[in-house]
Amino acid sequence: HDYDLLVVGSANADLVIGVDRRPGAGETVLGSDLVVHPGGKGANQAVAAARLGARTALLARVGDDGHGRLLLDSQRTAGVDTVGVLVGGAPTGVALITVDPSGDNSIVVSPGANARLTPEDVRASVRLLAAARVVSLQLEIPLETVAEVVRTAHAGFGGRPGPRVVLNPSPPAPLPADVLAACDPLVVNEHEARFLLSDDPAGSSGDPEKWAKALLARGPRSVVVTLGGEGALVADRDRTVPVPSVAVAAVDTTGAGDAFTGALAWRLGVGDDLQAAVRFAVRVGAAAVTRPGAQASFPNAEQVAALPRGR
Ligand code: RIB
Ligand code: NA
Repeated sequence: HDYDLLVVGSANADLVIGVDRRPGAGETVLGSDLVVHPGGKGANQAVAAARLGARTALLARVGDDGHGRLLLDSQRTAGVDTVGVLVGGAPTGVALITVDPSGDNSIVVSPGANARLTPEDVRASVRLLAAARVVSLQLEIPLETVAEVVRTAHAGFGGRPGPRVVLNPSPPAPLPADVLAACDPLVVNEHEARFLLSDDPAGSSGDPEKWAKALLARGPRSVVVTLGGEGALVADRDRTVPVPSVAVAAVDTTGAGDAFTGALAWRLGVGDDLQAAVRFAVRVGAAAVTRPGAQASFPNAEQVAALPRGR
């Protein structure tokens, strides 16, 4: 395999403004100077993994514009193979982000070129899929494109198994049963868990262990529920295990979930079991919240090692 990890997903320019509080409908508030960061859930995962040392490739689409060049630059600087980053068709995706004093964010995404990443594009880059140990996906690209990747990975390549599938359904959307069944793991935060379980009493229970079990019953081979400062839950058919987090001061949580999932997918690609991979990924996510921005805040291996031990 040429790659520990192939990420298929979005690349956005993040237009970030710090605010004391978010405006309500019809209201105007003044914020900080504008900062433009490279972001997008797919691009974030790829940079997170590569910065930690993963052999990583990204399959994505950006526009033929300044934001697209910013994103290609940040991928290359982190060491991501960008042979699968397609250019053109629409403006680069943009995320309008406000960050409040507690480090929490609100995001509106204009998908732009991300919405033009097609199943056809996946078929044209099938070589990347065949060369990866793990493929990681999110939902800022068309669902039919995600499904094409998952089905191709699941079918394998002439008797050789395809890459293990990691999926973070963000932003949440209903998933076809075969896509769900291929996930190993399905990675969800509280919001995504509640969305996927909106027709299930477990969803409104407020109990992450119940979410994990109810999600497992939908077919994925394993489930990881991320709980922010509380760490994560790891669930497979045999058991559900809590993984504690590391206590850090949050500055900006943007992209921390992507850093977590990118790191997790990489560790699975190099042979960690799911629990070990989550233990490592929790530390990567924690490091990412201590600095502003998404990709700009992702740690290298030494910075992860320097964090305090878990609680
Ligand atoms: O998950 C964080 C990301 O969501 C940001 O980088 C933004 O681009 C949006 O896609
Ligand atoms: Na951050």
